[in-house]
Order: sequence, then C-alpha cells, then structure tokens
Amino acid sequence: MPDVLTLGFKPFTPVRGVLIVFCADNLKFGPATRKALASVEDLVRRAAAADRFNGKNGSALDIVAPHGLDVPRLVVIGTGKESDLKQRDFVKLGGVGMGKLPQAAAEATLFAEFASGPLKPDQVADLALGVRLRAYSFDRYKTKRKEGDERADQVRVNLACASPAAAEKAYGHTAAVADGVVLARDLINEPANILYPVEFARRASSLAKLGVGVDVLDVPAMRKLGMGALLGVGQGSVHDSRLVVMRWNGGKRGDAPIAFIGKGVCFDTGGISIKPAQGMEDMKGDMAGAACVVGLMHALAARKAKVNAVGAIGLVENMPDGKAYRPGDILKTMSGQTIEIINTDAEGRLVLADVLHYVNERFKPKFMINLATLTGAIIVALGQEYAGMFSNNDKLVERLSKAGEATGERVWRMPLGPEYDKLIDSKFADMKNTGGRWGGSITAAQLLQRFVDKTAWAHLDIAGTALGSPQTDINKSWSSGWGVRLLDRLVDDYYE
Ligand code: BES
Ligand code: MN
Ligand code: ZN
Repeated sequence: MPDVLTLGFKPFTPVRGVLIVFCADNLKFGPATRKALASVEDLVRRAAAADRFNGKNGSALDIVAPHGLDVPRLVVIGTGKESDLKQRDFVKLGGVGMGKLPQAAAEATLFAEFASGPLKPDQVADLALGVRLRAYSFDRYKTKRKEGDERADQVRVNLACASPAAAEKAYGHTAAVADGVVLARDLINEPANILYPVEFARRASSLAKLGVGVDVLDVPAMRKLGMGALLGVGQGSVHDSRLVVMRWNGGKRGDAPIAFIGKGVCFDTGGISIKPAQGMEDMKGDMAGAACVVGLMHALAARKAKVNAVGAIGLVENMPDGKAYRPGDILKTMSGQTIEIINTDAEGRLVLADVLHYVNERFKPKFMINLATLTGAIIVALGQEYAGMFSNNDKLVERLSKAGEATGERVWRMPLGPEYDKLIDSKFADMKNTGGRWGGSITAAQLLQRFVDKTAWAHLDIAGTALGSPQTDINKSWSSGWGVRLLDRLVDDYYE
C-alpha cells in the first residue's frame, strides 16, 4: 500500500491511471460507467463469465490492459443489491477499491457511481474515507524495502463524481475523522520505548494547533490532587506518569461538556503480578483507549464540531520494580475511597478511577464515556467484533448502539448490578481491585462505577476490538483505531 496518498475529486472524465468502477448484481452499471466502458462492453462480459463474477458485494473483477480502453487496468467491484447497503458499506467499498490498486500503480480513477447513478456527496466522502483508511500502513521503523514489496511513493486517487466541489466539501468533515483514526493507529502501533507517558503527553499537546486547550498534569500536581491510585500504578516505572486534559469548546458558552476518558497504560507488564512472556509485546497497545480519545479530540477540533467536549487520559507505565506497588497494598484514590490491591495486573481500573472522579468533579459533564483495553475476559466473552459496553444510562446505550451500527464499530451491552458489585468488597479497604475469575469484565466495570456517581456514564472495554485487529477492507494495521469513528458519529448525530 502507498506511503503517500493524495485524494482528489474530479468529474467522470477524463480517466487517469487504473480505472475502478462499481456494478450491482448481474453486472448492472450506472450511466457514467456504461459510457466509459462502452468500447469494452463485450470484453467485460466475457471476463466476468470466465471469472464467474456477478457483482456480489465486495467481490472484484480485475482486467489487465483491457483491449480498447486506454487504461493499464480495469477493476470492477460488486456492490450486490443496492437497497441492502448500509452506510458503513460505502466506507467498506472505498477500502475494497483501494485494496485492488496494484502496488506499483501511481494513479487511479475511482468512479463514485453505483448502478442507480452517481453517489451523493456524503457517500463519495465515505468512499474516500475507506480509501484513506485502507491505504494506512505503519512502517516508519522499516529501514529496508524487500524486493517484491516495491510500491509507488506517491499515489493519487481521483474520485470521479457528479459534483466534485460538493464532494470535496463533504470530505472536509470526513477527512478530519480519517486523520483522527490515523493518529490513533499511529499512537497504538508506536512501541513503548518511544511512546512513554511524557512523550504521549507531548504528542497530545500538539492538538493545541487546532485550537484544543491542553493541560498536562505532572506527578506533583496529581499528588496534590490525591490521585493515589493512578500514581500507585506508575510508581514502579522510571517514566513519570501524566494526566492530559484536552478541551474543545465549539458549543455554546457555559454549556456542560461531554467527556471522554481513556486508559493510557503505555506498557503493561502486569507489574509485580507479572504477565507471562507470550504475547506481552502486545501490551504496548494498552493505551488504545487514550489514543482513541486523542484521535477523537483531533477529529472534533479539525471539523470544528459544535460541541463542548473534554478528553482526559491517564498515562502510566506498569512495571515490576523495587519501588513498584504490590499485592496487599492499599491505595487512596482522589475520591477518598480506598482500594486493596489483589493483583497489580488489574491496573487500568485504578488509573481510570482517579481520572473519572477528576473529570466528574471538575467539569460536571453531561455524560462520561471511558474507553479501555481493560480485561482479557471481554475477549473471551465477545471476541473481536464487539466492544463490551457497561452503562448506567439507557439513552446513552441506545445512542452508542446506533452509532455502532452506522459505523461498523459495534458495541454490546453487558450487565451491571449489586450482586456483581459486592464481589469487589474488601476485608481491609473499601474495595479490592479484582473480583475473582468469573465475570472478570463485569467486576472491573463495577469498580469504575464506584467513581462516577449519578452522572450518565458508559464504559467501553475495547481489549478485543482495539488490538491485533482482524484484517478488514478498511484496516490492514495491527491497531484499528477503534472508537474514533463511533464516537465522532455519536457526537455528530446527537450532541451538536
Ligand atoms: N491490559 C490488560 C487487559 C488486556 C488483555 C488488554 C489482553 C488487551 C489484551 C489488563 O490490564 C489486565 O491485565 N487485565 C487482567 C485483569 C486480571 C488480573 C483481573 C486480565 O484481563 O487478565
Ligand atoms: Mn494489566
Ligand atoms: Zn492493562
């Protein structure tokens, strides 16, 4: 895939480079496409028959050097039955198109037209989003190019559409979201020797250039606030902890903000309750919740969202060390509640306990949504397709569910309740940080709930969706940047 992608919006002719078009079931093309393919109609039919290509959604027919058409390659992509298409399918089909671009191709024209005719500007912008997300790769640490993975350094993709100016305008919004997803993916893919709390805070601070207000709280500042839980987790690391608070005020003055909180464990060894070696390298991504919050704040600011939003991320590194916290320790949180440590590997909830309380008290937000790669148990329960959603508010649940269906970043509600809550009562403190093997994702969520009071709140456990992501048409990267599109959509549909 290309390193450098340029997207342009153009009319349907002239065609430059590889030509990518769509067709519905039974090889039905739209009018502009039919016109462009007039000279190769018969060839396309014969190639389709030979390949048993029928226009099934997501399938593709690839014709090299089509005789009679002045392009190096013609790719036909099936949309299936058009009336079945959901919004997320437009993004997906953009990804399919990009995926069919041969590595060495420097230019392509993608016809933003389905069998029923040209796409609307919003739909063209969604195709463009798919192209952009598919083109992403993280290879900044590869110093050599292997033979065979030779690629074009500059790729230009022209989206041919009915009204280029309107499509380009619609893409103004979408591009902000795409940039947010890419930012989140980059942060998550980055190794922990490069991206430790101070460096993460520095990168988050660069949102200031978009008009985001950024405060970085260092260890003494957090100590003054009494954040004993967050600081307890970070005390075994040579890298100091940080709390970053980002504010975007695009809404009405004095309007209570909405708040997003992220778990930012830059590396999770498990601490004294150390994890096994197998797969531990993945724990560089234990800050995916925080990365999503930064990506989202980027998107909201870049598209000048008409909303007041706060993003807060607790940044720590969980290490075993002579100074590290240990099982049996009792930590005092900013809220005053105390937590007995049973397992130092259940650290994310400790970080979030202090950040949730801080945000709730300081900003009195309309709602709080936190994202965290919190438990392995959520992967056992839901696999990698849905994030676990825990909430005290049915309206928030419904809205998040709808935004999930629209974007394809889906959430599944999990239970909360007093029977689970009592599993984290402690002999020595107000609570303990684990509740036994059963229902591990739920008891983790119960601990968080003890720090949110009556505020509307949802906790998204993204351990399954954010890391080691399944390869899809719009993501070939280890980190999907999960959540940025979901939450941008939530804000866009309900809070602006
Ligand atoms: N960061 C992990 C959870 C995780 C696991 C994220 C796999 C992504 C992939 C979390 O801090 C953790 O270690 N949780 C423990 C909790 C247990 C000690 C109660 C777990 O899930 O095993
Ligand atoms: Mn852990
Ligand atoms: Zn963790």
